[in-house]
Amino acid sequence: MVVLGIETSCDETAASVVDATGVRSDVVYSQTIHEAYGGVVPELASRGHVEKIGAVVAASLHEAGVERPDVVAATSGPGLMGAVLVGLSYAKGLAAAWNVPFVGVNHLEGHLLSPLLEDPAPSFPFLALVVSGGHTTLYLAEDIGKYSVLGSTRDDAAGEAYDKTARLLGLGYPGGPVVDRLAATGNADAVPLPRPMPGELDFSFSGLKTAVRNRVQRFPDDNVEDVCAGFQAAVLDCLMNRIEAASRSTGITRVAIAGGVAANSGLRARLMASDLTVTMPPKSRCTDNGAMIANVGRLYALRGQFHDLSFAAQPGWALT
Ligand code: KG4
Ligand code: ZN
Repeated sequence: MVVLGIETSCDETAASVVDATGVRSDVVYSQTIHEAYGGVVPELASRGHVEKIGAVVAASLHEAGVERPDVVAATSGPGLMGAVLVGLSYAKGLAAAWNVPFVGVNHLEGHLLSPLLEDPAPSFPFLALVVSGGHTTLYLAEDIGKYSVLGSTRDDAAGEAYDKTARLLGLGYPGGPVVDRLAATGNADAVPLPRPMPGELDFSFSGLKTAVRNRVQRFPDDNVEDVCAGFQAAVLDCLMNRIEAASRSTGITRVAIAGGVAANSGLRARLMASDLTVTMPPKSRCTDNGAMIANVGRLYALRGQFHDLSFAAQPGWALT
């Protein structure tokens, strides 16, 4: 079964073709216009998707050598309403024109199941940390469509904390990759920061962001690499603490990570060094992409579960 997946929920216009052999094409156009604003401007995102969607989809089909897939899938939420609508409407139009079934995909489920595209794929049940610009949630994945939340952020997402810290340090947007790179040569011990860990398996990153701001005001001469390293060490301690605690309490040692922050080299290194059995998508497939959407579309299509073309965009679509 050949599935075309389309993703436009935020600032990536992406399309991919996935079939039983794996990912046959994976085309991502990242909008750059938002850099000037220090964050994603929703209206500009929607217009950018309109400009690129045709070319991105055509390139993904061409690269895969596919003229007409068996199924079309598209992100239907959560995300920016206008942005989601562009990819979703385009996908529905293609499904109607080709007379093939359609699957509306939850973006978070896309990230959560993206490790299944890896070889070897984790077998159920596994723990999955979805950590991105909008979400930081630790799930227990028992089967396709069967997820429970073990812990979640009470305020900012980890990626949001990266982006806000980068902005504070004048490093631009998105902040994750640049903070990650600078942290590699910094001395984390030179910039001690708190590790906020609220009850249970939850996360909290807004206090850490404030602590960075206070630190930078008090010690303006701190070297930027050290600040990045101190910040990253604090974030990673929180993430690792929760993953390890969840593994102990559930007895499950298979862990998958997904979402933009899963591209973080420090997080990847810490997980590799742990006793856990870890699956992580390659960095390019941690940030938003069409393959993760085609993958979920395909998994539901294989079960005969489709949506009709009246399926609406749901900007706040909850996964559990
Ligand atoms: O999954 P994604 O592309 O979009 C959302 O659904 O949010 O994640 C984007 C987030 C941004 O906050 C970005 O700064 C962060 O992922 N990010 C990283 C890294 N690469 C991207 N954070 C830390 N380290 C990275 N290497
Ligand atoms: Zn995402």
